[in-house]
Amino acid sequence: MSESPKDMSIEENVPMLLEDTASLQKGLWKERPLDIGLKLPCRWRDGTWQEAEILERKQDSVSSEFLYYVHYSGFNRRLDEWVDSGRIDWKAIEEGRVRWNKTTSNKKKKDKKRKSSDDTENRKIEPAKLENITKVKNVDRIVLGKYIMETWYYSPLPPEYHHCSTLWVCEYTLNFLRSEAALKRYQQRHSIRTPPGNEIYRKDNISVFEIDGAVQKFYCRNLSYLSKFFLDHKTLYYDVDPFWFYVMCEVDEYGCHIVGYFSKEKESEDNYNVACILTFPAYQRKGYGKFLISFSYELSKLEQKVGSPEKPLSDLGLLSYRSYWSQVLVDLLKNEKQPISIQEISERTMMKMEDIISTLQVLGLIQYYEGQHVLDLRRIDNIKFGSKGLQCDSSSIRWTPKLTTFINK
Ligand code: ACO
Repeated sequence: MSESPKDMSIEENVPMLLEDTASLQKGLWKERPLDIGLKLPCRWRDGTWQEAEILERKQDSVSSEFLYYVHYSGFNRRLDEWVDSGRIDWKAIEEGRVRWNKTTSNKKKKDKKRKSSDDTENRKIEPAKLENITKVKNVDRIVLGKYIMETWYYSPLPPEYHHCSTLWVCEYTLNFLRSEAALKRYQQRHSIRTPPGNEIYRKDNISVFEIDGAVQKFYCRNLSYLSKFFLDHKTLYYDVDPFWFYVMCEVDEYGCHIVGYFSKEKESEDNYNVACILTFPAYQRKGYGKFLISFSYELSKLEQKVGSPEKPLSDLGLLSYRSYWSQVLVDLLKNEKQPISIQEISERTMMKMEDIISTLQVLGLIQYYEGQHVLDLRRIDNIKFGSKGLQCDSSSIRWTPKLTTFINK
């Protein structure tokens, strides 16, 4: 599948001569730092100039140089980053080839006015400000087991951990620490080498643990904070009581190393079988995401309940689900000798009918004919997939559905 995780369009770079732009042209930019809301060319990682908006700025304590936190227009927010002045196209500023994000700059003006009339020290953070704060990453990287991972987004973790550039995480208990030495001391005192909860799957070096959010609140809340570093598109719930967490681990002689997880509402009115799914970046693109998706559908089969992931899906979530759904459907249809209806496909795979239809549409295997969907498998043999990745072996799952599932059915 070749959908790109990067958004498609880059806005047109039309110069707008606003008041502030004029002052830039007069050379005032040399005397003061660049303003938040300014959109200007900035050197992207591949060396090309891309339009970027300044979301935040800070002064380096050693060099006194200003650093700017920028968002590249048309790029996913996980690519936002701090840049120094060497990455900024100063010539474009001089020539007025810049624009302003009117919302941010207007918001800033309003904020200034409000500040002068109502500048009480301990007032609550206003929604507009909060939105700006959450646009900027508050931790640069996490250390989890043997991997250091750059974070992608802001996470509302407890304030004592904000703005520590590296967050050290115990991979077994998910306790947060502010230094390597503190993590080492912590792990010397704690001998636990597995996640909490019950191991419900083990095959080769892969285990899955089921964890009750209402019982292991600390672990599950910290897992939610960690996953927020890599999830931007949806509200995560830090009240973890209503969720089960399914944590996937690689197992070796040292212990069970978390690689990813999905959460699932204990009772979902919308029949979601996954609330939130994550593979930690160090483990991504190895098939673990598809393993987790397939595991979620194996649980749905045991519950005999059709399921679907909670919407909206992120760009990477959609790529992974599309890939999983496509492979399952093509395998099933290739091996099916008898005519089969969408309803029957849904009953066999536990995939929701809408997900089946939309995937078959993308694959070009369905036509809408005289008011109904008709399978058209003429080009099914032309559909090729890469590696199937890690397979979930349903016979290695040791799990029975919860009683509430049956009561509510
Ligand atoms: N660029 C292009 N394709 C990608 C990328 C990428 N960065 N990442 C995954 N894919 C494709 C893979 O190529 C693969 O397709 P293929 O088998 O047809 O080649 C498919 O997606 C799945 O790949 P996996 O290796 O099985 O998945 P991975 O372990 O990387 O996990 C996941 C996927 C969970 C979405 C991961 O990217 C992630 O955690 N992202 C951040 C959090 C997120 O967005 N979660 C989903 C939110 S939606 C929800 O929670 C319901």
